[in-house]
Amino acid sequence: MKIHLVSGGCGFVGRNMVKRLFNTTKDNILFIDDLSVGTHPTTWINQPLVEEKNGVQFYGSEKRLQYIETDFREFVMEMAKDASYIKTNYGLAIENFSDVFHFAAIVGGRAKIDGDPLMVARDLSIDAEFFYWITRQKPARVLYPSSSAAYPINLQTESGAIALKESDIDFNDMGQPDMTYGWTKLTGEFLAKIAASHYGIHITCIRPFSGYGEDQDLTYPTPAIARRAALKEDPFEVWGTGKQGRDFVHIDDVLDVTLLAMDKIGDGMAINIGHGKLTSFLELIEVFSEFAGYQPTVKQLLDKPVGVHAVILI
Ligand SMILES: NC(=O)c1ccc[n+]([C@@H]2O[C@H](COP(=O)([O-])OP(=O)(O)OC[C@H]3O[C@@H](n4cnc5c(N)ncnc54)[C@H](O)[C@@H]3O)[C@@H](O)[C@H]2O)c1
Repeated sequence: MKIHLVSGGCGFVGRNMVKRLFNTTKDNILFIDDLSVGTHPTTWINQPLVEEKNGVQFYGSEKRLQYIETDFREFVMEMAKDASYIKTNYGLAIENFSDVFHFAAIVGGRAKIDGDPLMVARDLSIDAEFFYWITRQKPARVLYPSSSAAYPINLQTESGAIALKESDIDFNDMGQPDMTYGWTKLTGEFLAKIAASHYGIHITCIRPFSGYGEDQDLTYPTPAIARRAALKEDPFEVWGTGKQGRDFVHIDDVLDVTLLAMDKIGDGMAINIGHGKLTSFLELIEVFSEFAGYQPTVKQLLDKPVGVHAVILI
């Protein structure tokens, strides 16, 4: 019986991956989250809680879904010290993991990235312990989610934005990534390459662009704009001019590409995941206000942060 590990399993990407693995495999899925941002499994898992033992919650009649609420840093630090930690501490007979998906992170939107950069930089401590642990325990395959924030910001200025290619991240010739979030992700990509080359770990990096989907936290633009349109906000406030665009990609597509990429890539290389189409915030407001059946006046908040600029070539 295979067992997969999902860190940050109660966050947006994590809970979608937990459900995907549960629905498409017969494997066990252990997921960890400290609920600092994530939501408790009972609110989204759609399976009954059948047992609670030694700090593990088991969901579903076959108990294939196993949840531990803890700080993932402590969890991996203990596992790195003692490979039998899960058995002795939680009573789970796990020797090693098949696929490990590392979604535990401090993310947040533009307000957090620009407003509290040293809070976001705590990602470095989560990732440092994670990368150390994978080189001790050597799970079969590892997924590290990077981000478009790893790209040099000088390629994404208002007047000089270019369509970003995988090769625009070149460790031999680097620009500056987007704040501490981008530095963390770029560091993670660098560590992934070392994990593969120095320790023989099968590891894949993904850079999802702007993920969206049902059940996403309201701090993200798509659900926030959808909600405000449903409430018929008028005038409709937008940060900056609203002409800045993002490559929005649905979470189901992110998961499809992630799983495919893990089959094809094992040397730490990163693959971009986007829809390939640039959508401005003004267009997003138009889509949702049309759904809501009204035409609001747009009010630009020019003193708010807008992040990087983008163009896409198709
Ligand atoms: N959502 C996107 O569009 C997107 C785009 C690019 C990259 N990513 C990356 O994917 C990953 C997941 O993103 P997300 O959107 O699901 O974020 P999220 O904030 O919804 O999920 C992160 C989860 O990690 C948990 N967490 C944080 N610190 C923890 C700790 N110390 N121990 C245990 N759990 C902890 C949080 O409670 C939360 O549930 C992140 O690495 C993010 O950078 C996401």
